[in-house]
Amino acid sequence: MQKISRIAVLTSGGDSPGMNAAIRSVSRTGFYHGLEVYGVMRGYQGLIENDMILMDNQRVSNIIQRGGTILKSMRSNDFMTPRGRRQALENLHSRGIQSLIVIGGDGTFTGAKIFMEEHDFPVVGIPGTIDNDLYGTDFTIGYDTAVNTVVEAVDKIRDTAGSHNRLFFIEVMGRDAGFIALRSGIATGAEDILIPERHTSIKELINKIKYDRRSNKTSGIILVSEGDDAGNAYEVAEKVNSQFQGYSTRVTVLGHIQRGGAPSCMDRVLASTLGYETVNAVLKNEQGVMVGKVNKEIVYTPFEKSIKHHRKVNAAMLEMARILSL
Ligand code: F6P
Repeated sequence: MQKISRIAVLTSGGDSPGMNAAIRSVSRTGFYHGLEVYGVMRGYQGLIENDMILMDNQRVSNIIQRGGTILKSMRSNDFMTPRGRRQALENLHSRGIQSLIVIGGDGTFTGAKIFMEEHDFPVVGIPGTIDNDLYGTDFTIGYDTAVNTVVEAVDKIRDTAGSHNRLFFIEVMGRDAGFIALRSGIATGAEDILIPERHTSIKELINKIKYDRRSNKTSGIILVSEGDDAGNAYEVAEKVNSQFQGYSTRVTVLGHIQRGGAPSCMDRVLASTLGYETVNAVLKNEQGVMVGKVNKEIVYTPFEKSIKHHRKVNAAMLEMARILSL
């Protein structure tokens, strides 16, 4: 077993609330075990450009409550090339770094997987994305905060919807995953929830809106996940309006407000736990896995299994949401 004394940590892809808590946890657990911890700036791009800082206790002070990421983040095109990845490897070797911890989502782990296959360099992942679309963890860091942001916003919009007898189409993030829409839809009592994992029939949607009308509802909220097959919230609203004029409608796109803000208690604790457990995994020479939490247990999932499309939306929750919105 290789004795680890120097590691690096980076954040990559879309930022998510709780990434700072994870950076703090990785750093402090590393310091406790006498490790040198490098913080890589701007994700894989910083690895290629050798943009790294030696972390110390002070750098990770007073960040557990902050959204965003102190290491900054980006999606690096250079890392998608063999040349970029070779340069990244050279920089890691030149600093004597023995293991890399990446905090991010499916794009981040896809990059890590290719890098490992090509260069046999140990990488371990921490799930950090608001989308919650990774297999091998019940929750990803940032998802809970994002959902709470959506719930707060939808509650406010409902006040206007109710006061003006309007039907609102509210678009939420999640790229091609409906986890944000489903959970926040249940929590806000949305009249319908459109997600990419299930085909959207405009006819059925209109039938539901008409049914609500007949049951004396005077306003409504339709949550539209950004990747829905019927289109974005504007397109869905237009399709509905062209066939049913029973409502005055409005569209709200919540956008990047969902990615920012102070992490919730749940995200801080999850990030702290996964950061701590990931350093423990690195010390045991684990590699090529994402460290997640499933049913309160720490679970290591190989990158190829954790990334996109392996995680299924809970059909029972969808059915429950439908019944509760009747
Ligand atoms: O993956 C996280 C995410 O917030 C998605 O939900 C969204 O589709 C995407 O990032 C937006 O990315 P960008 O920051 O490039 O606008």
